[in-house]
Amino acid sequence: SPSDPDLVERARAAKEKLGDKVFVLGHHYQRDEVIQFADVTGDSFKLARDAAARPEAEYIVFCGVHFMAESADILTSDDQKVVLPDLAAGCSMADMATAEQVAECWDVLTEAGIAEQVVPVSYMNSSADIKAFTGRHGGTICTSSNAERALEWAFEQGEKVLFLPDQHLGRNTAVRDMGMSLEDCVVYNPHRPNGGLTAEQLRDAKMILWRGHCSVHGRFSLESVDDVRARIPGVNVLVHPECRHEVVAAADYVGSTEYIIKALEAAPAGSKWAIGTELNLVRRLANRFAPEGKEIVFLDKTVCFCSTMNRIDLPHLVWTLESLADGKLVNRIEVDRETEEFAKLALERMLALP
Ligand code: 13P
Ligand code: SF4
Repeated sequence: SPSDPDLVERARAAKEKLGDKVFVLGHHYQRDEVIQFADVTGDSFKLARDAAARPEAEYIVFCGVHFMAESADILTSDDQKVVLPDLAAGCSMADMATAEQVAECWDVLTEAGIAEQVVPVSYMNSSADIKAFTGRHGGTICTSSNAERALEWAFEQGEKVLFLPDQHLGRNTAVRDMGMSLEDCVVYNPHRPNGGLTAEQLRDAKMILWRGHCSVHGRFSLESVDDVRARIPGVNVLVHPECRHEVVAAADYVGSTEYIIKALEAAPAGSKWAIGTELNLVRRLANRFAPEGKEIVFLDKTVCFCSTMNRIDLPHLVWTLESLADGKLVNRIEVDRETEEFAKLALERMLALP
């Protein structure tokens, strides 16, 4: 949708006034009207690194969701301020694992006598509290672009992995990339006593998957894959690893948002693609690559924006930039010192993965 020219001009002017004092990061799922003002775009791994590489910027405006802004705050220096243009931009998946629930889970693992063998691996899509838990217990963070390397590392440190909070990324990586079987995985349900698992099940498992998922990617089904293959002969199905296991198993290619973009850049003219990830990104890619003769469609016909990513819109960005340009700090995301210390440990283990 075309952006309001008045708001575009205001955003441009405020950004110009701020100059090098501000650095704007935009996740690939952001709206076009926001992406046009991003100094850099990326997947969550790339953005975490890019935020850390800008020590001269006083303000990091994070156009993405809450856990990404927290991670940026953890990785930047204390005098840099990370700002989230709408504080209501959370992530339903990250909310599926609270610090209390995860502490309770660790008690269950301790009771079953296996806690010492377990290494936590937490998806970037988690709160700073969960990242701190991970760091405290010798674990690492991962993103969809390095989950396999993170799991390999974890299995060098211990015999079992507790994977938080996305069961699909955990299962898909273990089974599709690392050759484990579905039987090696159990699902810990934080809403059931003992996670709904017996001590024996826990002792037999290699992967203990937290029962969390992405409400956007969880909507793609095996039917959507079969449908698109019937509709478009020769189509390549490319999905994000947050999709359910049967969808990933039926796809031709699987990868993070950054991987998806690279795959389409490298695709030959005339090729056809069905993409299973957030709709803002798929639309942008379809428009970008249409002139090169690459046909790109959305994997499912039902609309699939991430509603929290979409909360960051041009009016919120204008308000944020104008406030900062007026010397008024708004919507700062700040992780407390103790949480930061251990969360940083876990994030740095990820950044050090080979
Ligand atoms: P990536 O950008 O790491 O692929 O993650 C997708 C996502 O869902 C972020 O919330
Ligand atoms: Fe969270 Fe899913 Fe939205 Fe990503 S797409 S921010 S995982 S709800």
